[in-house]
Amino acid sequence: MPANEYLPFLTEIKEVIKHTDIEYTFRLTYEGAVKPGQFFEVSIPKYGEAPISVSGIGVGTVDLTIRRVGKVTNEIFEHYAGDKLFMRGPYGNGFDIANYQGKELVVIAGGTGLSPVKGVVDYFARYKEETKGMTLIAGFKTPKDILFIEEFSCWKQAMEVILTVDCADNDTECQIGLVTQYVPQLKLNKIKEAVAIVVGPPMMMKFTTQELLKRGFLEENIWISQERKMCCGIGKCGHCKIDDIYICLDGPVFNYVKGCQLLD
Ligand SMILES: Cc1cc2nc3c(=O)[nH]c(=O)nc-3n(C[C@H](O)[C@H](O)[C@H](O)COP(=O)(O)OP(=O)(O)OC[C@H]3O[C@@H](n4cnc5c(N)ncnc54)[C@H](O)[C@@H]3O)c2cc1C
Ligand code: FES
Repeated sequence: MPANEYLPFLTEIKEVIKHTDIEYTFRLTYEGAVKPGQFFEVSIPKYGEAPISVSGIGVGTVDLTIRRVGKVTNEIFEHYAGDKLFMRGPYGNGFDIANYQGKELVVIAGGTGLSPVKGVVDYFARYKEETKGMTLIAGFKTPKDILFIEEFSCWKQAMEVILTVDCADNDTECQIGLVTQYVPQLKLNKIKEAVAIVVGPPMMMKFTTQELLKRGFLEENIWISQERKMCCGIGKCGHCKIDDIYICLDGPVFNYVKGCQLLD
């Protein structure tokens, strides 16, 4: 009999990494195939479930970077290393590394949008010879909102990194400004062949993809990742459905050619 993909299983918290007051990474035991951009449904009995993207893949572990916003996520934050959580998944299509290999790659992330795409950044930081050059533009509201600050120094060894904040004191080491303003400055050899991934809040994705198209990127060379309210996560309940698209099943990662109609 096939395994029931709707059934939660127990996972143990190996480590909790604090980024900001309301954003922690939970490193959880997990054996099995998983891709960056896929998500798990994390559940707490009597509280509910929350879909959370994979932000890191280790040997026997996955990282889930969670923002504390409400009922379920508040309760997850009451758990510590050694505690157990229920989860089910991984669900969704995730990012396909093969789409970006051998190309000039630009990743543009806004806020917690860095989380689902971090696995792609980690991969090409490790295997930098697999791209023809990579640029990461990551934007946050203020310096205190920056996620994965330790990883940035490692990423800088392997790629061009622009870390920017919307506003800050003068003594910040970050750039100041929205991610969109760095698109015209991108140094690319063959723009029609370059590929880009854009993940972040809906408005950020909308304006950033517009900037990329203005720069000459082809629609089919841009990917986005969408977050929508979800329930089952496996294409059964229709909560995430827009027209004929199930975000949980057909996405959350979409090529812009299809995904542009989801950018409201
Ligand atoms: C595919 C996918 C991947 C996600 N990845 C992450 C992740 O990596 N890290 C992370 O912190 N969050 C992620 N989210 C959002 C996360 O699922 C919600 O923040 C969470 O479900 C809120 O649950 P809650 O019970 O704590 O909050 P609630 O008490 O249900 O709500 C608190 C607030 O959050 C809003 N909210 C609730 N659910 C969602 C949702 N699905 N999307 C947006 N807003 C919501 C509510 O409108 C309300 O304003 C993802 C969502 C999806 C669909
Ligand atoms: S969340 Fe149920 S169909 Fe997508």
